[in-house]
Amino acid sequence: MAPGTEKIHLIQGDITRVKIQAIVNAANSSLLGGGGVDGAIHRVAGPELREECRKLGGCETGDAKITKGYRLPAQWVIHTVGPVWRGGEHGEDELLAWCYRRCFDLVRELNITEIAFPSISTGAYGFPVDRACRIALREIARAGAELDRLHRVLVVCFDAGTLNEYQATLREVLSGTKDPRTKNQNQ
Ligand code: APR
Repeated sequence: MAPGTEKIHLIQGDITRVKIQAIVNAANSSLLGGGGVDGAIHRVAGPELREECRKLGGCETGDAKITKGYRLPAQWVIHTVGPVWRGGEHGEDELLAWCYRRCFDLVRELNITEIAFPSISTGAYGFPVDRACRIALREIARAGAELDRLHRVLVVCFDAGTLNEYQATLREVLSGTKDPRTKNQNQ
């Protein structure tokens, strides 16, 4: 089993209802809310979230910033801005990988032990799910292997199709046919 994958749990559900230390928001660069998971997180967290986000001065694509969770069950929200899919030749893979890496930088800095991710960029931003989940699982497995204090990483898929993609890719990884950490494994 690729090191770090034992910490990964895939579920279908609504990330705003998950009781966990930190959840990740697929935000936009304004950090002032939007639709999709961003809209749901702001709706449940309440207006204080937007007030705190307003003070952060936005967020670059591939970067991540942290706020409190307010009325959410989660203590923290890590807001990251995924790349908009533009065909795959504009650095989208690397920018998506950086979203996960920057989230795990904050996990390390704050000694966060469990975190839940949505499927970043695969909704309004149009990133193909099969390609995105390979990048996501590679970065999550790498962080799982590196961060001793991190003991659980949830990927919360909103629909069955997304969950199936993640499950299929994780099975490939677990069966050793594809190690998500090797760079050029037709990611
Ligand atoms: N819980 C978990 N996942 C969710 C939820 C939810 N409550 N709502 C939506 N999703 C899923 C979507 O089905 C998709 O699989 O999150 C994934 C990411 O989709 P989006 O939320 O559309 O995010 P993204 O593709 O990264 O686009 C970000 O959309 O909402 C705006 O402000 C946001 O401009 C930004 C853009």
